[in-house]
Amino acid sequence: MIRVPTPAGRLAAAALLAGTALAAPLARAAAPAATVAVQADHPGPVIAKEIYGQFAEHLGRLIYEGIWVGPDSPIPNIHGYRKDVVEALKALHVPVVRWPGGCFADEYHWRDGIGPRDKRPVRVNSNWGGVEESNAFGTHEFMDFSELIGAEAYVNGNLGTGGPQEMADWISYMTADTRSTLVQERKANGRDKPWTLHWFAVGNESWGCGGNMRADYYADLLRQTRTYLKPAPGQPTKIIAVGPSDDDTAWTETIMARAGKDIDALSMHYYDVASLNSVPKGTWKAKGSATQFNETEWFASVFGAYQTDVLISHHSAVMDKYDPEKKVALVVDEWGTWHDPEPGSNPGFLYQQNSLRDAVVAAVSLNIFHAHADRVRMANIAQMVNVLQAMILTDGPRMLLTPTYHVFDMYQGFQGATSLPVVVTGPDYSVGGRTVPAVSASAGRGTDGVTRLALANVDPGKAATVQVRLAGLKAGKVGGRILTAPAMNSVNSFDHPQVVAPAPFKDAKLSGDTVSLTLPAKSVVVLDLQ
Ligand code: AHR
Repeated sequence: MIRVPTPAGRLAAAALLAGTALAAPLARAAAPAATVAVQADHPGPVIAKEIYGQFAEHLGRLIYEGIWVGPDSPIPNIHGYRKDVVEALKALHVPVVRWPGGCFADEYHWRDGIGPRDKRPVRVNSNWGGVEESNAFGTHEFMDFSELIGAEAYVNGNLGTGGPQEMADWISYMTADTRSTLVQERKANGRDKPWTLHWFAVGNESWGCGGNMRADYYADLLRQTRTYLKPAPGQPTKIIAVGPSDDDTAWTETIMARAGKDIDALSMHYYDVASLNSVPKGTWKAKGSATQFNETEWFASVFGAYQTDVLISHHSAVMDKYDPEKKVALVVDEWGTWHDPEPGSNPGFLYQQNSLRDAVVAAVSLNIFHAHADRVRMANIAQMVNVLQAMILTDGPRMLLTPTYHVFDMYQGFQGATSLPVVVTGPDYSVGGRTVPAVSASAGRGTDGVTRLALANVDPGKAATVQVRLAGLKAGKVGGRILTAPAMNSVNSFDHPQVVAPAPFKDAKLSGDTVSLTLPAKSVVVLDLQ
């Protein structure tokens, strides 16, 4: 399969170039021109719609305020779910939501979150700010929320402080349609028919907050637990194992070797942290501001986004050894930018603003997921509302859509599309002797028959002229949308929520099998070819 050249390859070439004093200045001075070859006559695998999934943890102001305000709130709500957020998520056609964590999951006992809300126990959220957890949002509220927004439910089980019995009971409670006491309890709590449970994970980050386990130990616990997880007949539930963080291929190797036959999917977590992608490397403690950054930090984030390709390639290669038929999906169920929390916010709440830089990172990451559609069959951006690279921010009754939301919106046509290979050549974008491709691209034929091309120009200082060559596609017209903004760090604020918003893109010219356009600096464009 033809792929966008990996950053690894590009970076190796760049390292050679960096040896010549002219390399970086030349890249900045030349009029950049890119060629994007779209192989519409070589369709690839389907881009799983679940790649557009989201993650919703009991963390900060995500669940409480971001989704759930309760039925008595003055904030307009639908049975307790805030209306503005529900509508924004419905408009995005969110395919799947992961809940309740994250680190929270391995300390969450599902029985705390069922039954009359005023009788539920109050706990302390020891992972995130030590705040009170009222348990007002539990299994019924989550599963009903998923149904309300039309998303598949992905529930993350507690392996850390729970175990096989808790997980097995939870799955039965959600999915069974028997006369068992558990099912009667669910009915008494207001839900007659079972919900559909699409995904269930055995623990979260078991190498870290989920129990600090060694891979061998986790693999054994996974096998043991898996034995007892029995979704009701007819349920589509896929079982997910805890996978690696970042480039930990040894973890992947062990899980695939010991338990690869027992699972449907392996998760992978990767956060794009500007300080960790800087030279010299910074620290996790000082990640960098979400809004006050210079071009070097912009580059670090973009470089980090391109690393997604390297990491997926490494883990896929290991998985291919044990699973050449690609039965086991790699699910990137936590990804996105992680910046310093906004000044003045509770540091345990991971609340960060979202700028044009985050949008560009999202576009590059999604293009990479498309290129790996054969193995990557779900991804869940961290997180949905008010946490990390959020799609939506709220402030009391106010809500705004972030630049990242708009990228997901522009890319909606890729959900379930058939991927089409693309090959991008030149130009490069270089800062401080490091280089990435200036233009990131992916293509797909949507379920509506429309061929779409997504393009991102990651260079914040230079437009790129692009010649798109279409092989095997006779297009009659081209249109699309663009996302850009005046500054690298432009954001949407509650007072100015439309600073970074999509606009029609009318500058693409179609002539025969060629589309010509100029991609403005720091922009994302999605073209429709029909
Ligand atoms: O998304 C925030 C946290 O990051 C999650 O709880 C955890 O799984 C990861 O380390």
